Amino acid sequence: MGMKLYLLLFILGSSHAARNIPKDLWFGLATAAFQSEGAWNESGKGESIWDRFIHNANLRVNGDTTCDSYHKWQEDIENLKKLNVNHYRFSISWPRILPDGTLKSINQEGIDHYHKLIQGLIEAGIEPLVTIYHWDMPMHIYELGGFLNPQFADYFGDYARLLYQEYGPYVRYWLTINEPYSICNRAYGAGQLVPWLNLIGDGIYQCSYVLLKAHARAYRIYDEEFKSKYNGKVGLVISADWYEPASNTTVDSDARERILQFQLGWFANPVFKGNWPQIMIDRIANRSAQEGFARSRLPQFTQEEIDYINGTHDYFALNTYDNYIAKNDEQNITNPSYWFDVGASWVNNTYYPEGFRKLLNFINDRYQPESIMITENGLITGDYLEDDDRIAFLRGYINSLLDAIEEDKINIVGYTLWSLMDDFEWGSYNFRFGLIRVNFTDPNRARTWKNSGYWYKNILETRILDI
Ligand code: NOJ
Repeated sequence: MGMKLYLLLFILGSSHAARNIPKDLWFGLATAAFQSEGAWNESGKGESIWDRFIHNANLRVNGDTTCDSYHKWQEDIENLKKLNVNHYRFSISWPRILPDGTLKSINQEGIDHYHKLIQGLIEAGIEPLVTIYHWDMPMHIYELGGFLNPQFADYFGDYARLLYQEYGPYVRYWLTINEPYSICNRAYGAGQLVPWLNLIGDGIYQCSYVLLKAHARAYRIYDEEFKSKYNGKVGLVISADWYEPASNTTVDSDARERILQFQLGWFANPVFKGNWPQIMIDRIANRSAQEGFARSRLPQFTQEEIDYINGTHDYFALNTYDNYIAKNDEQNITNPSYWFDVGASWVNNTYYPEGFRKLLNFINDRYQPESIMITENGLITGDYLEDDDRIAFLRGYINSLLDAIEEDKINIVGYTLWSLMDDFEWGSYNFRFGLIRVNFTDPNRARTWKNSGYWYKNILETRILDI
């Protein structure tokens, strides 16, 4: 081979095409209080369901200290600043503000903590995106019935109003509840997340009914009492994955549609269109009748409730990670279950960033949101600093995102990567999502940048994606 050919091969092999990133597209990072703060019983904080259940389970791991961000928040801001992000998504711990979840006692130290964090971010030129509820429910609220208590919206509304009063002048982007699907399906239905309930046939739907009314309450309070003063935006964080049908038969494509309706539509439909997806109403009512229930296991909204929930969005906040292959899996009447209500099954697909673009198109077509903010996306890995797999994942996803913006003309305003740093992944420290490594055996919880941290910083600074 001649020298010239070598040179050509070298250039082809090593060069990447470059793609410009629109200047007004925000890039950020996310965390959540229970996963990163620690200080579980300090400075007046009350007990959350995650504190209680994890302690009782004796797992040898817990969230007592985790990344210790309650004390190391300044270092976190330093890192965010170095990374050059536009925004930072974090959550407020409800029991840190209201130890038993109610207005009976307000914990000033908790209030002050988030004031410092928010001011610190603003001084660093970083926009705060605040999640009001990221799963750490005060124990007392859970004892009152949690997401199965029809009065839950009252407590949640009181808590949300207090946050708007305190932080409203500084926060422009609010997120009410993180991932209703994970809460109602995985925590209340499938027993995978605290409080590990197995109410897969009925509690799962009652949870969604209570939760949506609580979200709507928090939205309406902002809209009526604060919007004219502060002009912020409020949204619900909806999680969704992309599904491809296993074959081009109608049964499989219908199965794919059912999954999307039972996952994404379950929460997006009431908020963006009004009421549950019709397919959920019909199928659950039908199966419930055959199972001998007096009424559908899916609670029916009154017209007043439909109208109260409908339209409670200022943007579509989307968490997305995976994509799957879906196939029809209809079951005869057996035990009442969400899975049989869906009547489909799915398996993990290989890496398919194009699915992200398809999901964005699906959301845009179905719900016509004013804008979409990606509030979570990222890759789980083991514990290593040379995380070039994460870089490859992100490169593909961000490229797909740019296709959705530039070619499909979808109004996407921001992309938030999960996570700033490794944290407590709801029961384990072995599943790592961070751009920054945290040493959980070091009392100082030393943070070390991974390759992906340098890579993200670079694309945010240059506004060029190497593809
Ligand atoms: C979903 C949740 O919002 C977040 O808490 C979790 O750590 C990530 N996705 C990764 O599983």
